[in-house]
Amino acid sequence: MATREKHSNVKVNRRSLRSKATVLVIHGPNLNLLGTREPEVYGRTTLAEIDRQVIELGRELKVEVEVFQSNSEGEIVDRIQQARGRIDVLIINPAAYTHTSIAIRDAISATEVPTIEVHLSNVYKREAFRHHSTIADIAEGRIMGFGADGYLLALRAANSLIVAKVENG
Ligand code: DQA
Repeated sequence: MATREKHSNVKVNRRSLRSKATVLVIHGPNLNLLGTREPEVYGRTTLAEIDRQVIELGRELKVEVEVFQSNSEGEIVDRIQQARGRIDVLIINPAAYTHTSIAIRDAISATEVPTIEVHLSNVYKREAFRHHSTIADIAEGRIMGFGADGYLLALRAANSLIVAKVENG
């Protein structure tokens, strides 16, 4: 009994029991061209700079950040599948695949990793074909219209999800 009481008084920091939380950031097709691609729509920040900023914020928040870009739907699906059980939150800008890819949606559903959808532009201010997203209803939340800052906002949101999970189990 005494031992049990002693144990029940121990404050366990559950986060310290596991390795650092990991967030995966996936950038879809043509986002490798950021900086020069339609800068009036997507801004002048390059993808390398976005990745640098996200990794730096990750350091501040004590979250491991992995980044990945591909122009290929299959490679994106492969990378999402590998996230199962090892990635805490997925941040994804599927770019044009947002509007077409059932494969990316199915991969996210299969891995059961909480997902945040990001777009640099506000897709609702643009052509109608950009208004539909195959992942909108399975995402925890969506951030769009804030350019490169959207990724930093998404990482802060991801960190809040991780903290809430640690606190609430
Ligand atoms: C985008 C919006 C998409 O409609 C487009 O195909 C992109 C980028 C964005 O970040 O605003 O490539 O996802």
